[in-house]
Amino acid sequence: MINIAIIGTGNISPFHIKGYLEFPNRCKIVALVDIYPEKAKAKAEEYGLKDAQIYSSYQELLTRKDIDLVSVCTPPYLHAQISIDCMKAGKNVLCEKPMASSLEECDAMLLMAKETGRTLGIVAQNRFSTSFMNLKKTLDADLIGNVVWADIDSHWWRGTSYYDLWWRGTWEKESGGCTLNHAVHHIDLLNWMMGGVPKKVNAVLGNVAHNNSEVEDVSVAVLKYESGAMARLTSSLVHHGENQKIEFQGSKARIAAPWKVTASKAKENGFPEKNAELEEQLTQYYETLPNLAKEGHTGEIDNVLSALEQGIDPLITGHSGRNTIELITAIYKSGFEERMVELPISKEDPWYTVEGIMKNVKPFYQKTTFLENVTDQKITVGSDFK
Ligand SMILES: NC(=O)c1ccc[n+]([C@@H]2O[C@H](COP(=O)([O-])OP(=O)(O)OC[C@H]3O[C@@H](n4cnc5c(N)ncnc54)[C@H](O)[C@@H]3O)[C@@H](O)[C@H]2O)c1
Repeated sequence: MINIAIIGTGNISPFHIKGYLEFPNRCKIVALVDIYPEKAKAKAEEYGLKDAQIYSSYQELLTRKDIDLVSVCTPPYLHAQISIDCMKAGKNVLCEKPMASSLEECDAMLLMAKETGRTLGIVAQNRFSTSFMNLKKTLDADLIGNVVWADIDSHWWRGTSYYDLWWRGTWEKESGGCTLNHAVHHIDLLNWMMGGVPKKVNAVLGNVAHNNSEVEDVSVAVLKYESGAMARLTSSLVHHGENQKIEFQGSKARIAAPWKVTASKAKENGFPEKNAELEEQLTQYYETLPNLAKEGHTGEIDNVLSALEQGIDPLITGHSGRNTIELITAIYKSGFEERMVELPISKEDPWYTVEGIMKNVKPFYQKTTFLENVTDQKITVGSDFK
């Protein structure tokens, strides 16, 4: 039985609680922590967590030897310190996205995981969606030829009151805008499907509709890979309808989520004609792939529990989380310095540390509202398109 603690019992915590509760024979929630312990108590009551002790400080549970796995569900600026302290105290960690506020913090987390032999998983629950999992499998089947272009619409919409919450909309505590906190999901998918980060990044950032937030609500990045492939990534909080897309153009065919397949071949004069045979082959391949039994947070929690049970790595490790932060850091560096940026970002680069990032970002607006101890906010965690 894997004993679980959840640190931070706000909006995202029910996704973790419900996920763990799906596996009553494998794990048990034994502790909930929040600086507002009444929020933790309310969650324990709502979900019938009779065995969960409530704490107002995560330091208090570090000495408990019976806790095996901790879900870190606090605001981003706390992820690194809490994860490091938990691993140091012998606990495995499943940390919410974004992994951390800087590459330096990511590296400190990875070092602690290595030194202690603990498992460090990072939440990127969209990998556990049938449509993305099967898109990845179809890409890996090598039917579309070399990927030459990827198009990503990480389109979301939030009203200005979204930024009233105390930690959101600040470079210090949210650590970024929609690129870090929303497109993080698509960036994880892109890195996973492309097999790594690009070599070069050119980005433009703006805040076009949220005048109570320091951070960007739009970014557009053009990426260039070692292979020569290119990608366009739009991160946005201003798109009504939140239509999202991840699309790969291979040398032989295009595939995308939501699922779409098109294959062209060249006529003698180079103009396109439909490659019906390849379209049929891709469709058949995709349609025979199984649906996932568990999706979203529950799917990732299942995977992390299995990793602990079997002594193997989970699908989404700290290294994947770091890759995501590296690409986002490059987008911020390029956007604020208004120039092309090359990866990797070195340890000497000012953008490697939180201090350097804070010196180099320029707040778009001043944040004036800081609502604390907000309870019972129902949130959505992304597009559920098939
Ligand atoms: N995976 C997803 O799709 C998804 C969706 C939403 C949020 N998130 C992430 O989850 C994290 C939390 O977001 P949220 O929307 O739940 O925020 P929230 O403000 O609703 O909840 C955070 C909770 O942490 C508590 N907290 C703050 N400091 C703490 C500390 N030192 N010790 C213990 N508890 C502390 C707060 O009181 C609050 O209850 C963020 O990193 C966010 O990016 C992920």
